[in-house]
This record gives sequence, C-alpha cells and structure tokens, in this order.
Amino acid sequence: MRSGTGPEGSRVLVVEPMGNAGRFLVEAADRLGVHLYAATHKDVHDTYPDRLRSALAGVCATDLTDVPRALDDMEEFCRAHGVRGVTACWELFTPLAALLAERLGLPGNDPALARAARNKILMGQVFTSAGVPAPRSRVVEDEAGAHAVASSRELGWPLVVKPAEQGGSWGVSVVSGPDQLSAAVADARRHAYAEPHGLRLDTRVLVQEYVPGDEFSCETVVVGGVPYPLPVVRKSTTDGGRRVETGHACPSGLPAPLARQVQHTAARAALAVGVRNGVAHTEVKVRPGSDVPYVIETGARLPGGNICEVVEAATGVSTAAASLQAVLGRMPDTTPVRDEAAAIRFLLPERGGRLERVHVPQQPGTYHELRLETGALVPDPADESCRVGHVLARATRVEAAERLADLVVAGARVEVS
Ligand SMILES: Nc1ncnc2c1ncn2[C@@H]1O[C@H](COP(=O)(O)OP(=O)(O)O)[C@@H](O)[C@H]1O
Ligand SMILES: [Mg+2]
Repeated sequence: MRSGTGPEGSRVLVVEPMGNAGRFLVEAADRLGVHLYAATHKDVHDTYPDRLRSALAGVCATDLTDVPRALDDMEEFCRAHGVRGVTACWELFTPLAALLAERLGLPGNDPALARAARNKILMGQVFTSAGVPAPRSRVVEDEAGAHAVASSRELGWPLVVKPAEQGGSWGVSVVSGPDQLSAAVADARRHAYAEPHGLRLDTRVLVQEYVPGDEFSCETVVVGGVPYPLPVVRKSTTDGGRRVETGHACPSGLPAPLARQVQHTAARAALAVGVRNGVAHTEVKVRPGSDVPYVIETGARLPGGNICEVVEAATGVSTAAASLQAVLGRMPDTTPVRDEAAAIRFLLPERGGRLERVHVPQQPGTYHELRLETGALVPDPADESCRVGHVLARATRVEAAERLADLVVAGARVEVS
C-alpha cells in the first residue's frame, strides 16, 4: 500500500454520484487532484445539477439496473479511461461497485457480502453470524405475518416496521400497538422500485425490536481490510411513529470510552458486511444506562445529511477524501486536525403542501441552504424527502453549535399551502 495523500491524476469511477454526498466527493476529488467519472443512466444524467455535471471528467452511460450489462459497460469504460478506483455513492448500487472492482482487479469490497450492506434482512443475518449487537428482527411478507410476530410478543412493544431495502427513513414506522401494524406494513411495502433508476426492490418487511436511547453515527474508512474510524456524530430525529432526521452534531458529546465503543462497533459492522476498501456509514443506538451500541444499519457508502460537512467543520477530516484514498488503495487521512464543533439542523415543514415561503433568520456562526424552491411540492414530514433545507452552525463547543442551529430553526418559517 502507498501512504500519503498523493493520488493526483488518479481516475475514479463513481457509480451514481447524484446522492447527498456527491458534492463532497466532487470537492474532495478536486482537492486531491483525482479525476471523477460517473456511471449512470442517460436520463438521470440529464437531471444532474450543473456543478456536478461540469465536475465530471467523463460519463459511462448505462443501465445500472441491468447488472450484467452495467458490468460490461463499466468494465469497458474503466479500461478505456485508465480508471484506478471504483466507488458507489448510492446505497443500492454498492454491491454493483464491489462486483466491478473485483472484475477490474481494483481495491473494493467483498462481492459475496456486499448485498448485506444494501438489504437489511441479509444485514441482520451477517450481524448475527459476526456477533455484532443489533435489534432482534423477524422477516414478514405481509400484514398477517406482522400480526403473527406481534401477537407472539417475542419482540415486545413498540415495534419497528421497515422495508428490507430503502433509505432516508422511507417506510420506517415505530408502532405502539396492533391497530397501527397493518398501515405500517403497507407503508413499508409501498415502493417496489427505487427512483430515479427504477431498480427493483426486495419488498419483504422487517419487524424489529425497538431500541430506546440516544442515536449516533460513525463512518469507518477501510483500506485493505484495516478499519480507520472517523469521529462519532450525534443524530437527532423526531419522536413518535415517524423518525425523521432533524440533525447531526459533532463531536458526539459521548464520554471518550463510549465514543470508542461506538467506533469499534461501527468498524465491526462495516467488516461484517464486507467493506474492505472504502467507506461505511453506520448508525447505532445506545440504551440509557448501557454502554453497548446496537447497530441499526450500516451502508457501504458516504453518509447523507451533510454529515461530511459537519465532521469536516468540527475536526478537519474529509470523509469523502478519505474514502477516495481508500478506493485507490492508499492510506486515508483520518487524523483530526482541529478540535471544534459543528451542528446541522434540517428545515422541515409542519405538514406537506406547496412551498410558499421560507424565511431563515441570519445568525453569526451559521449559514443556511435551501434544497427546494418556492412552488415545489413538499411531502408530509414522514421521511427525509420533506427536507426543505438546512442550517449549519460552527462553534468551539458542540453545545454552542447545537444551540445556535436550534435558535435559527426556531426562528425560521417554512410556509406551505
Ligand atoms: N430497531 C430500532 N429501534 C429504534 N429505532 C429505530 C430502529 N430501527 C430504526 N429506528 C429509527 O428509525 C430511523 C430510520 O431507520 P433505518 O433502519 O436507519 O432506516 P433507513 O435506511 O431508512 O435510514 C433510525 O435512524 C432510527 O431513528
Ligand atoms: Mg438509517
């Protein structure tokens, strides 16, 4: 393995860079002197924002839902363009990236395990085999199956109902009684295909034990099977039946030994789903009074929710740059270079409707960015698709950063009609 930060001129193919972390990957590639290429569908490429389109050195147009064809097209493209690293920036394509890396003989993840990083049923199985603490789950096909699990009382109440393959809290419900179960299962099964590529999804449903307590996430960058943990981030969500992400903060505020435990558990989860060269994003919950992190999920991808930005603002570590170094087989720069703090809070509507007006107060130490324009349709606040924008705050201490971001969100008005 080469060490240092010198992958200048290297070429990396990103299998669908259009996720939240795509922009951070683009910035990091620019800083490292890495040339980024995208693999995507032509119609999806047409919807790329200008800044993403213009940052790409080239595009492999293919059908990412057709695995044999996509592998052939991408292999040919990578050989023709001298691509030296492959990464996915879209959770559902992480197994495809692993298969491609293997074909090309480039550093990648274990293709035999890679599907476990996308499918929560397989994920639960590999966690059990590897002894990674995770909530107990049962797999059901329909409402009747969910009622049978609930009436056995083996998982207690509340129960969490979630789709086998989704992200962004889509179709995830915390159910407090049998009367809510059928609707939760129907919601988890609502999408048989993932947009915008039209990828077919596993429509089975997980019924899961509810883990109370605070929630955290942690990135692990893995190179040659060796995990390098990144700082722990505190995650905030709404309470109740729908757990919509409301923000993130770094540092986590956890005592150092517990933060290390979270990093250790996240690394074990990443290795269990076959991450060998690349980044994993792991979410955990820690029961009150316990020091055992339970893994809610791990994905072989960069985090969403601008966590890259939060971590970099607080610690100076670029998760995206480290992930590029990892897929090029280089030692990643994961050592914090500053000890500050940052918090992000999402601007969410109270209900769905047409976005009429957004007012966000100015506050020193903060900036905000809107994701939706006036006139856009905003869905009900049930998952991350209702995010209107965000506020990011920086301070020397995390409590101050969170207070600042909360202050701005409290003074903001998101008006829908
Ligand atoms: N077993 C569980 N116990 C407690 N909360 C959970 C559980 N599963 C999911 N959640 C809550 O729901 C959120 C979304 O669930 P998750 O499994 O991460 O799905 P997604 O892939 O959509 O992000 C989690 O971040 C967490 O707040
Ligand atoms: Mg999640």
